[in-house]
Amino acid sequence: MTALNTAAYKPLTQQNCYRAHIFESIPTGLIALDSDGNIVSFNPTAEKITGLAAEDVLGQTFDGVFKADSFQNPALNIKDILNTKETTEIKTKMMPANQRNHLHLNVAISPLTSVSDGKIGTVLSMTDITRVQNLELQAKRTGRLAAMGEMAARIAHEIRNPLGSIELFSTMLIADLQEFEELKALAEHISAGVKSINNIVSNLLLFMRPDQQLDEQVLDIHEALKDSLFFARHLLDAQDGIEVQTELAAETLFIKGDLELLKQVFLNLILNAIQAMPDGGRLQISSHNTSGLQSAPWAEVHLVDNGCGIAKADLPKIFDPFHTTRKKGTGLGLTIVHNIIKMHGGSIDITSSAEGTKCVVFLPVWAGSPNG
Ligand SMILES: Nc1ncnc2c1ncn2[C@@H]1O[C@H](COP(=O)(O)OP(=O)(O)OP(=O)(O)O)[C@@H](O)[C@H]1O
Ligand SMILES: [Mg+2]
Repeated sequence: MTALNTAAYKPLTQQNCYRAHIFESIPTGLIALDSDGNIVSFNPTAEKITGLAAEDVLGQTFDGVFKADSFQNPALNIKDILNTKETTEIKTKMMPANQRNHLHLNVAISPLTSVSDGKIGTVLSMTDITRVQNLELQAKRTGRLAAMGEMAARIAHEIRNPLGSIELFSTMLIADLQEFEELKALAEHISAGVKSINNIVSNLLLFMRPDQQLDEQVLDIHEALKDSLFFARHLLDAQDGIEVQTELAAETLFIKGDLELLKQVFLNLILNAIQAMPDGGRLQISSHNTSGLQSAPWAEVHLVDNGCGIAKADLPKIFDPFHTTRKKGTGLGLTIVHNIIKMHGGSIDITSSAEGTKCVVFLPVWAGSPNG
């Protein structure tokens, strides 16, 4: 038996033996000291917590084994320990022998008394509360993050209102400045900038509230596509040399969905294509109805650019929140695109090479009447 100093105990009667088993098995680290501060008992859990073997510490003084810096809490000094008159509980941190991480401990220091001799020493019982402490920390951090998210969402919401006015006035300015090319170009830059901010703020709001309800209606997917292109027009005008070719299916392509969210999908994909072609390029947008080709018909929208392409190593990460290779990117665009399309029962496929990037959006075609 490693833990009991038999000199301090009576010969092993059946009852003593039973107590010894308890002492050995209890999941609390027990260290008993005599009145001079010598370690007289050291159970297996104390060995596990401290990383020290009982045979190496039994008979040694407590302050010889545990140096002043072993515990973070100064209350664990030998003088206070030996003077303990009633149970005191303290929380402390200790670095176990041969370990690199601190343990958080709850240590109860109690006087060890004998019926005949009164106080004969002190017993320290240690519980490892590292896991509980870490969970508490995590809960606090999560709470703080939730509060920050809530605040960010509120700020984003407030920013959108004045942005709407700036956007409206810059559009009016552009209309009034038709005959003044240079001034009109400046106003277009204002409008493009505001639209970029608006997109970032909308993405942020959508990211903060991913479980929002869809405001669904039966709509022609071309409606969402054309609105997004109209919205991106000034961004396209503000960037030189980008040619947009559209080839939309002749017939209407009805789907059931949330128009505002679908506009956000196409706008993000168009913006990504524009941003991938800083020196100009071509963006081809086409729509297709696969009815008749498959049992479950899809409305497909293809966006093909001949921009910088996505590096092979980055491709698996593009839908991850905050993954971005752009200096001013937030990395939320494709996360939101993916989430919105999923909410609509669709999917998105992105392939890329050094020649450019192809995004294909699949949405289920609405099989009912156009009025829903
Ligand atoms: N058409 C594209 N061509 C080249 N790279 C692309 C294209 N679309 C996406 N990417 C890559 O995927 C990354 C993630 O895109 P995502 O739209 O999620 O974020 P972002 O555009 O960087 O920032 P933002 O949140 O402003 O949209 C981009 O940073 C870019 O590296
Ligand atoms: Mg983007």
